[in-house]
Amino acid sequence: MCKVFDFDQIINRYNTDSFKYDMMKKLFGKSDLIPLWVADMEFATPKCVIDEMYNRLKHPIFSYTLCGEDFYNLINKRMQKKYGVVVHRDWIVQVPGVVPALAICVYAFSNDNQGVVIQPPVYGPFAETIVGNNRRLVENNLIRNLDGSFSIDFNDIQDIAINPDNKMMIICNPHNPVGRIWNTNEIVNISNIFTNNFNSDKIIIEDAIHCDIVYPGEKYTPLFSINQQIEQNSITIFSASKTFNIAGLNCAYCIIPNAKIRRQFIKKQSELHLMISNIMGVTAQNAAYRNGQEWENQLVKYIYNNYLFLNDFVNKYIPQIKVTKSQATFLNWLDCSQISCDNDVLKDFFVNKCGVALNSGVDFGSGGAGFQRINIGCPKSMLLNALENIANALNN
Ligand SMILES: Cc1ncc(COP(=O)(O)O)c(C=O)c1O
Repeated sequence: MCKVFDFDQIINRYNTDSFKYDMMKKLFGKSDLIPLWVADMEFATPKCVIDEMYNRLKHPIFSYTLCGEDFYNLINKRMQKKYGVVVHRDWIVQVPGVVPALAICVYAFSNDNQGVVIQPPVYGPFAETIVGNNRRLVENNLIRNLDGSFSIDFNDIQDIAINPDNKMMIICNPHNPVGRIWNTNEIVNISNIFTNNFNSDKIIIEDAIHCDIVYPGEKYTPLFSINQQIEQNSITIFSASKTFNIAGLNCAYCIIPNAKIRRQFIKKQSELHLMISNIMGVTAQNAAYRNGQEWENQLVKYIYNNYLFLNDFVNKYIPQIKVTKSQATFLNWLDCSQISCDNDVLKDFFVNKCGVALNSGVDFGSGGAGFQRINIGCPKSMLLNALENIANALNN
């Protein structure tokens, strides 16, 4: 019989140098809020991962690290098992994080003032890596459908693609915060339109950090595996960090099948000195990929149940808020525009009337006003407390 893991346990995380907990006072003015903001989870990293980390600690030296054969073999095994694709060892490039990898891409595949396309509302650091590095931010805004789900504005991509200076497009798949998984047709359309059927030097980058948390019946397909043209014109970035709650260990990897693109990437990576791995990150990822499958399966079910619960509760008791119809991730994009479209008013309401810390919609760029992002990667009791507080504040 399979072991049943305990995702209901409440773990005290104050004073653990946790951004989510220990920055609340500074950013929200209070430290005792229910923290449903930063995208890490409230669940203990699986024991199989912690055991391998302990084991590594028995050796007393933690010097410069390389990724051994296990790292490559375990990634390949996982890709074969989950997606039926073979990943050649050379294609895999270790990086210290997904955002560092995006920043390397921006440096490697665009020049000053050239355009980099993103699809807002989207994870804030995308825009930061572009604007902060003196590239031009190009926004292909998502379309909000009548049922509250989101889709892609392909006509707009057509217009964006005409400019030869719009060099790269970063897609978030599954998308943080709107929870869409772009399907193969959508990806093929994006790629064909943006690259003019691959008759250009434009490149597509996929941030796939949320790709493991996929709701039942939904399917994620890695960018590089869709067809040969995409394979040869893309970079797909993965990490075990969200799934196994090890974001502080700084380990991620890119899959770059095209040798020329890979060389360009690695050249910039070494110029920026972002080559060296973190021994604990590599150890944890290896352990998670080796032994974490059952924990991961149960985690996904737990999160999906939280998503269903969020829908039920909000529909019944907080009709002023709309939950976004989602396919993946432990995040949800709440439409709070009936409460207010003013970010300061919303923040004041959630912090001071509800005792809950959420991410402000405006931090996700265009289309964020009136929205808040909620993190449901937590024990159900914690989610319930937060939702009850919100319902009480609105209804009393
Ligand atoms: C879409 C997305 N990409 C990247 C990251 C951060 O990745 P990393 O910590 O590996 O830089 C996050 C974290 O929330 C995220 O949601």
